[in-house]
Amino acid sequence: MNAPDRLAATGSPPSAEPHVMQTYGRLPIALSHGRGCWVWDTDGKKYLDGLAGIAVNTLGHGHPKLVPALHDQVAKLIHSSNYYLVPLQEQLAARLCALSGLKNVFFCNSGLEANEAALKVARKYGHDKGIERPEIIVYEAAFHGRSIATLSATGNPKVQAGFGPLVEGFVRVPLNDVAAIENVARSHPNVVAVFLEVIQGEGGIRPTTIEYLKEARRICDERGWLLMLDEVQCGMGRTGKWFAHQWAGIRPDVMPLAKGLGSGVPIGALVCGPRAADVFGPGNHGTTFGGNPLAMRAGVETLRIMEEEGLLANAAEVGAFLKQGLERELAGVAGVVEVRGQGLILGIELDRACGALLGRAAAAGLMISVTAERVVRLLPALILSRDEAAQIVAILCPLIKEFLSEPA
Ligand SMILES: Cc1ncc(COP(=O)(O)O)c(C=O)c1O
Repeated sequence: MNAPDRLAATGSPPSAEPHVMQTYGRLPIALSHGRGCWVWDTDGKKYLDGLAGIAVNTLGHGHPKLVPALHDQVAKLIHSSNYYLVPLQEQLAARLCALSGLKNVFFCNSGLEANEAALKVARKYGHDKGIERPEIIVYEAAFHGRSIATLSATGNPKVQAGFGPLVEGFVRVPLNDVAAIENVARSHPNVVAVFLEVIQGEGGIRPTTIEYLKEARRICDERGWLLMLDEVQCGMGRTGKWFAHQWAGIRPDVMPLAKGLGSGVPIGALVCGPRAADVFGPGNHGTTFGGNPLAMRAGVETLRIMEEEGLLANAAEVGAFLKQGLERELAGVAGVVEVRGQGLILGIELDRACGALLGRAAAAGLMISVTAERVVRLLPALILSRDEAAQIVAILCPLIKEFLSEPA
């Protein structure tokens, strides 16, 4: 469907040229409102939301505790400025430090901003040690964002194409290969940090093993490097613990967060442990919007409601039920490579590109995503019920089977 047709389908005059820059291949669906794990489009069609705005709507839509709290905050103060104290920043930072065991937090507005801040921390950490050209270990198939520095750290040539020259100072290794980091350690004396996603999200729901995380922690400690874990997609309770690395019993030195932290209100956070906490001083980093009262309130309330409603346990339990359902229905189906992931971050890898499933699922009343071309991805709200999980399985698996039965 071309752009004018798309606009026609979403209610704009058919002849109008789009004024929104066409950087996304969008489905011709406009959502008007939501409740829990359900959303409705402008034609009144109802969808089960298996995507939650790409791991953002932690509490689903229109949560009865979050909405009044945000109303209250909007009426009191939306934005002030980092020229002044923002008490809600201290409140949210204290909670994040208590949950992670880390020391302090810089607030920003998105995942790439949190990662950009992490990269700056790593470089300055190096400079402070007298390393003039610090290097950072990054990963094949990683995704860290679309600013020039974060797309340079990203391990996807499609994201980088057309944007060279890329930022220097990255050394790339394969995931879950301890010998590869040790080789880099021997050959690159300027390495200062290891930067990875605990579960690669855009890369196709590819988990880092617990053993690898422990080894990465050990190597970073031995070498005085920073272990920087990008939990923008896999963090915030999605795996059943507050942060995905907690399954390995380790702590990072630097942890970028975003997406689910504000349950829909834009927010980013860089959480730092003792080794990284004092790297930035006044004047080293900043952002106009970062840490504004509305975003901070969204974060504080999201964490509070997650605790009150036991959403970590729900993510673990309903996620396991959903995964089992997918595995059961797709067992032995030719073309299904693997069902992967933990809690409510799940991927179904097929043996072929499956972008077409996005539109077919929407037509059947289910929101999903397809990433890394061949992986159907599910990132529903952490309030998902067993019944809703069963409905995802019941809608999605027949679609996948039908798709795979067609000539490739
Ligand atoms: C692991 C990870 N890091 C960073 C980002 C970038 O976040 P944002 O889109 O908020 O800039 C994403 C987005 O998908 C992500 O999955």
